[in-house]
Amino acid sequence: MEIEERDGMPVRLSMAQADDWHLHVRDGAMLAAVLPDTIQRFRRAIIMPNLHPPVTTVAAARAYRGRILACVPPGAHFTPLMTLYLTAATTVADIEEAAASGLITAVKYYPAGQTTNSDQGVADLRRCDAVLAALERHDMPLLVHGEVVDADVDVFAREELFVARVLAPLLADFPRLRVVMEHITTASAAAFVSAGPPRLAATITAHHMLLNRNALFEGGIRPHHYCRPLLQKEEDRRALVAAATSGHPRFFLGTDSAPHTRSTKESACGCAGIYTAHAALELYAEIFAEAGALARLEGFASHFGADFYRLPRNTGTVCLERCASAVPQTVSFGTQPGVPFRAGMNLQWRLAGTRT
Ligand code: NCD
Ligand code: ZN
Repeated sequence: MEIEERDGMPVRLSMAQADDWHLHVRDGAMLAAVLPDTIQRFRRAIIMPNLHPPVTTVAAARAYRGRILACVPPGAHFTPLMTLYLTAATTVADIEEAAASGLITAVKYYPAGQTTNSDQGVADLRRCDAVLAALERHDMPLLVHGEVVDADVDVFAREELFVARVLAPLLADFPRLRVVMEHITTASAAAFVSAGPPRLAATITAHHMLLNRNALFEGGIRPHHYCRPLLQKEEDRRALVAAATSGHPRFFLGTDSAPHTRSTKESACGCAGIYTAHAALELYAEIFAEAGALARLEGFASHFGADFYRLPRNTGTVCLERCASAVPQTVSFGTQPGVPFRAGMNLQWRLAGTRT
């Protein structure tokens, strides 16, 4: 990695091409509209399976992968890494087929009813023990959305409780199962992963490192800052920045960029999800520069995820430069507009090219 400074300030960096280890690209016109933002910035991405209906079979994942690849322009290099959506109906045979196919990178657990398209998720993960054992046998990672499903638990406490009630016993009962706790939001989750075994990792979004929960109510209710798991307290935000910039190899980049049209966000019952794909690397560069840890961005964005997933590190490079650039008020999400993260405001860094 190379960092150029001017007057003691970093102004340009080049590093190994990055990957996004947690991404929603949807389908149809929205897929075609949002995918270019990711292709410009990342060489690979873990594609979330929470379509409507969800991607639950190898055949559905193969077809979805085909639709994604059809949106990759000739000459561009982008590899979608496919996942299956765990439901109560997922069988051991499904996992065996997934492992044999060579097409499925991981299986995703959604706690039923907690987030976008999670109604077919699983209420009690431990009803899936046979499937979990199959994942363990086939060395296929389980990706978890870490929130307990209980409606009577405070919504800001659901991640912390998930770690104690679900994740810790899961790791104890399946001693070789590889787990990625997705989009962690709390100091306690960061501490748990940091102290955990090498088979446990976590992704961290840019928005959870840039905002705390005050941003949900700044001057009024702010639907474009609503995502699950929720933004948390300032001390949690700081702990996430500390974890990401620490150089600990089991924290890596996952944007959780999750496009929803403007009208479905600005609604009496708005959807959860924040769109960051248009600025993903730029935002992480801002966070790492602010923390005085730009030299550790490459590990977090380009090395550690590949190492955990046992995939080769990328050989291309990506360059970023410090330069204010404006984010539009809206972008096209296909047939309807969407509101991107930082709409109408500035990014501090911009993309300055990639070389594959
Ligand atoms: C995601 C989405 O919109 O698909 N929403 C979100 O708030 N993060 C789903 C998810 O990852 O929880
Ligand atoms: Zn997500």
